[in-house]
Amino acid sequence: MNNSDASPKMRGLVVGGSGLIGGYLLHYFKTKTPEIDVRAPNSKKLSLRELDDIIDYFKRQKPDFVVNCAITAIRSDALLSYEVNYQGSINLARAALALNIPYIHISSAATLPPGENLSEDDHLPLEASLSNYAKSKLMTEMTLKHMHEKYGLKYTLIRMAIVYGAHDHKIQGINRLMFNIVDRAMPFMLTKKKGVLHSYSNASKVPYFIHHILKNREEFLGQHYHFVDPEPVELAKVILTIKSYMNLKTPREIYIPYQVAKTGNEFMNWVIKLFNRIGYKAHVPAEMIFLENFYKTQTLSCEKLKNSSFIDPNPQATIFTELPSLIKYYLARWEHLNLFSSFSSKNFSITHPELKKVDPAKELAEVFMHSPRKLLDSIHKDGIAPLDEIL
Ligand SMILES: NC(=O)c1ccc[n+]([C@@H]2O[C@H](COP(=O)([O-])OP(=O)(O)OC[C@H]3O[C@@H](n4cnc5c(N)ncnc54)[C@H](OP(=O)(O)O)[C@@H]3O)[C@@H](O)[C@H]2O)c1
Repeated sequence: MNNSDASPKMRGLVVGGSGLIGGYLLHYFKTKTPEIDVRAPNSKKLSLRELDDIIDYFKRQKPDFVVNCAITAIRSDALLSYEVNYQGSINLARAALALNIPYIHISSAATLPPGENLSEDDHLPLEASLSNYAKSKLMTEMTLKHMHEKYGLKYTLIRMAIVYGAHDHKIQGINRLMFNIVDRAMPFMLTKKKGVLHSYSNASKVPYFIHHILKNREEFLGQHYHFVDPEPVELAKVILTIKSYMNLKTPREIYIPYQVAKTGNEFMNWVIKLFNRIGYKAHVPAEMIFLENFYKTQTLSCEKLKNSSFIDPNPQATIFTELPSLIKYYLARWEHLNLFSSFSSKNFSITHPELKKVDPAKELAEVFMHSPRKLLDSIHKDGIAPLDEIL
């Protein structure tokens, strides 16, 4: 810890602070931990692709701990995936090793095979055929373990499954599913009726775990943890719950067999390539590389987490308790950004009471759209005095 008189605070570095998980971390450290000061330079200031950026930052700032939740886009090519997800993570860990400080790394269930109750020791075999994302995440897991054994790297690795949370700038994973359902881009069920279970990770709880790790370093040193909700969830149930909250007609309850979905996906890839060749830019969603996962169970054991000293800050929360607020948040966001091709909230009779509540921000947007003069007058009257709070 930096214990100079001027700054007795513990100083942390979060890499990937503008992302989904990183955003929750920054908010938590800003609002809940006055004893910890966290910096989160963006990738223009500290790029994991640039070893010099890492060396300069560590030389200048000498952080007391590092959390790495950076990744390159999931569909990135081999070089970028290697440089950011693997080499960058390892260089960060080397810097942490040099300062002998904790390094907390976020990993993914993409390193695991399908199966039930998978443990922290399970992982896919490292093969050339893995996706760039899975390969780079798996190689990182392996090298961090090796660095712990060889040099005593003080690391903890947190494996996340399907992550849910607000403020995600990309449309991926569960958000892509939600988007496609609401935008009526999923006419039928791309899963089996029963028995396809997955683990879910609540992004808002991750900071509590990381803070706990920092306070109880010895216990978590050199360990991997699955950070997932205790109960796995049926994919069909998630899809049908979103559908019912929004009172949508699709996806119809016709379950498309995997082989048919796969052939359809391959056909779409072919059509898109053709369109791209004649100048129309299009691509299938990145998640379609995970199509197989829609049909195969993958549940992660959370026994190790349960048996640790960490106490879940909100054990009642599940993907189902959070869905109404997530739908509300993302619908507003995607509508603001004009991303929907067919959905407009005006045309829908939303059923869930949480989603029906009038949003004051929406009312404000209406005034901005239709009565700018009225808005300007009211701001001039009440909203332009000096911000005395600063003094
Ligand atoms: N989201 C999920 O569904 C999910 C599921 C399982 C596991 N995970 C894991 O959780 C972690 C966080 O994922 P996320 O969804 O929060 O990520 P995200 O929202 O895509 O954010 C990625 C972050 O990485 C940063 N980044 C990208 N390239 C960089 C570079 N060259 N140097 C430094 N930073 C760079 C970005 O910063 P800039 O904006 O400044 O470029 C951004 O802050 C990852 O390890 C991921 O594997 C996520």
